[in-house]
Amino acid sequence: MKLYHAAASPFVRKVMVLLHETGNLDRVEIVNTVLTPVAPAANLTGKNPLSKIPALERASGATLYDSRVITAYLDDLFDAGLYPTGSRRWETLTLEATADGIMDAGVSMIYDIRLRPEDKQWPDWGEAQWSKIVRTVGALDAQWMSHLSGPLDMGQIAIGCALGYLDFRHDARGWRDHAPALAEWFAAFGERPSMQATRPA
Ligand code: BEZ
Repeated sequence: MKLYHAAASPFVRKVMVLLHETGNLDRVEIVNTVLTPVAPAANLTGKNPLSKIPALERASGATLYDSRVITAYLDDLFDAGLYPTGSRRWETLTLEATADGIMDAGVSMIYDIRLRPEDKQWPDWGEAQWSKIVRTVGALDAQWMSHLSGPLDMGQIAIGCALGYLDFRHDARGWRDHAPALAEWFAAFGERPSMQATRPA
């Protein structure tokens, strides 16, 4: 399998952490992919017309995207149990969606700053994205610590990658001020070898 990859992408990192945690890193070939929303990757558009990463090209069958489809597929393929059964399953899926929402907001702030010409930037946009992030880390802190402290699942991995992206690109804004219990959880979660091995630089 080929994984279309960029180390800075928190969505790609979810897949990489899953591969590390399940001991299956050697099952994928990493294809470094350079793209932005306004500059599609020529080597990817034939596989994913949206030109978004991660995308997982398989020996046969459709190339898979987006990250949640890929993580669910790999979990199934490796029988990894990262999507538990019972009520915890729905919490796990909701946590992963929550993490992806934090990533969407954080990445869109970066795109606004880096890709838009200065005279077309809209600071209110970035502030609204950051408000969304503050609200969400606060909700995680208030309502999700019990789940986050349970057995490893894909919700935890996704939240770890989302918080890692906030540290990577938005460190100065200080998300920890709004979520002290979550910050304590992440201090321990971020020490996992899978997280250390995939830290964006
Ligand atoms: C970034 O550089 O922040 C980034 C790169 C690829 C995908 C998402 C974010």
